[in-house]
Amino acid sequence: MTHSPLPDPPGADLGRVRDWVREAVQLSRPIAVLTGAGMSAESGVPTFRDALTGLWAQFRPEELATEAAFRDRPQQVWDWYASRRAAVAGVEPNAGHRALATFQAREPGRLTLITQNVDGLHQAAGSPGVLALHGNLAEDRWLDSPRACCDASVAAGTLTDACPPACPACGNLRRPAVVWFGEFLPEQALRDAETAARTCALMLVVGTSGAVYPAAGLAFTAHQAGARVVVVNPEPSELDPVADVVLRGTAATLLPALLAP
Ligand code: OAD
Repeated sequence: MTHSPLPDPPGADLGRVRDWVREAVQLSRPIAVLTGAGMSAESGVPTFRDALTGLWAQFRPEELATEAAFRDRPQQVWDWYASRRAAVAGVEPNAGHRALATFQAREPGRLTLITQNVDGLHQAAGSPGVLALHGNLAEDRWLDSPRACCDASVAAGTLTDACPPACPACGNLRRPAVVWFGEFLPEQALRDAETAARTCALMLVVGTSGAVYPAAGLAFTAHQAGARVVVVNPEPSELDPVADVVLRGTAATLLPALLAP
């Protein structure tokens, strides 16, 4: 008589992943972590799609986060980013960000942290060398290549209710230093992230819907290269199919449990 295997008891998957983390440490194998907006949800930052509420509910991200939208409606796009900056101002890293930073301090060089987030919370938690694939919400840059007349400190003084800061001489606009749809990711950060994905033994994919490429493709790269892939997300994501284990829970509860010594 054959027996079908008993289902894993609750928590068994968590234990398996904890063992994988420990094994990677003991065998000096690299770990990569890819984070998305859900990583910061418990800090009170709305996820990218949740941010389109209230006044902004009528828009899709693809209608605001593009260069074409900014050239067409600079004030509207600037105002949307101002509302996102306001949402991020004053928020603190959560227990998940801190668990990653603590692990990195304890195991220097073991973990490459790749994020799609522009909120700076991994950096604020003290994580070194964060690969910020989508830029930084706190910074601006010139829309067009700056000319001799373009001085960022002068432009900063030109911000009015009616428009983003601009060079008073040539009109070049300041724009948020984030990656918009259709734009290239920062070359070096993407290259480093691809190397980490190709060479890691374990990849944790935390708080991302897995809908936006090339970031989401890093999980496929890791999987194809033979790494164990673990998704941490309270909801189904598009990366669940490549995961060896899916942990249905939140970043701030699961990461401290997974990364504790
Ligand atoms: P999304 O808003 O698409 O997805 C957030 C994910 O986080 C969802 O899968 C949620 O289920 C999950 N989530 C929510 N709360 C969570 C929690 N407490 N712990 C863990 N997971 C949680 O955000 P991203 O996948 O990051 O790009 O979006 C990717 C990119 O799309 C963004 O970086 C942005 C956007 O276009 C650019 O700005 C270029």
